[in-house]
Amino acid sequence: MGFNNWNSGLPSSAATAIAAANAFVSLGLKAVGYEYINIDDTWSSKSRGSDGTLVPDPNKWPNGITAVATEIHGMGLKMGLYGDSGTGTCSGYPGSQGYETQDAKTLASWGIDFWKYDNCNAPTSGTSQTRYTTMSNALAASGRDIYYAMCNWGDDSVWTWGLKTANSWRVSSDVTDKWSSIVSIASNAQSYASYAGPGGFNDFDMLEVGNGGLTTAEERAHFGIWAIAKSPLLIGADLTKISKASLALLLNTDVISINQDSLGIPAAYFTPSGKSAPVPNQLHPYWSGRISTGYVIGLVASSGASTLSVNFADVPGLGAGTYSWKECYTNATGTGTSVSATLGAHDMAIFKVDKS
Ligand code: GLA
Repeated sequence: MGFNNWNSGLPSSAATAIAAANAFVSLGLKAVGYEYINIDDTWSSKSRGSDGTLVPDPNKWPNGITAVATEIHGMGLKMGLYGDSGTGTCSGYPGSQGYETQDAKTLASWGIDFWKYDNCNAPTSGTSQTRYTTMSNALAASGRDIYYAMCNWGDDSVWTWGLKTANSWRVSSDVTDKWSSIVSIASNAQSYASYAGPGGFNDFDMLEVGNGGLTTAEERAHFGIWAIAKSPLLIGADLTKISKASLALLLNTDVISINQDSLGIPAAYFTPSGKSAPVPNQLHPYWSGRISTGYVIGLVASSGASTLSVNFADVPGLGAGTYSWKECYTNATGTGTSVSATLGAHDMAIFKVDKS
């Protein structure tokens, strides 16, 4: 859980990092578990130093990176940076190909805790496992515990080798601030849900909550699907301008508890009896998954306003019985053999079903 500046277009600078860290504390985001302040592409100078080291852009980092990392650590937070497995980043800054060992040591020496590793300026397919494993080994030998976020956009079926290589891996091309983008990413979740587990997760890309392109209902579905599918939750909005409604969503501790559940099992599609099976590239309305206190059931009004109902007997693993439940967005609670939600277009209900 954290922040990344790319989706909002904020500069990749010390000022952006410190403003986000301050907002994490003042808005209560740190208190509910958001921790990483990650700075994306364009943070460095266009050239490496004479000894080959990456150099922070002095205009964006007037006191260097270490000073910022130290300040962020002092606030009880962590700091992340971005690099690329090819010869250059997507925006044309130095890539790490051939410099993996040196760059991993530089990150460790600066006090960096998270490394997002991109896939531009490298052969398009068939080589990413080798490139990403080289950096995985370099980080492991760097002397610092650094979260490794692979960003190869789902190439080379990354989910099949992700868990042994990294902490998370992007499964798609870039998210945009539109419902169609949310649908396109979420509708493919089924094929790789089973490959994630504690320590390694499918990354659906940074959140667009608070960036203005989604309705409030769509933001609930976007955040909810990312959360129950166990994607990293990296806030992509400018926290100095975020609306009260979007902030309240990001602070929903019931949804966060599902995302951070110790079992680390992604929720996936299921089909209640009598309902249509999932259709490729369409967002299926019915999601479920095990959590340590029972089960989560997600209902998404993907094709328009509707009432969606599920008998517990139809939920894989949960089975017939009378259980108590809580809906995470309305705080409604109940006990019974089924749940039901009347939802506006693209809205979502998330039920935590107690089977402890
Ligand atoms: C790629 C990544 C994005 C972002 C940009 C930066 O497109 O997938 O998440 O990091 O590069 O240039």
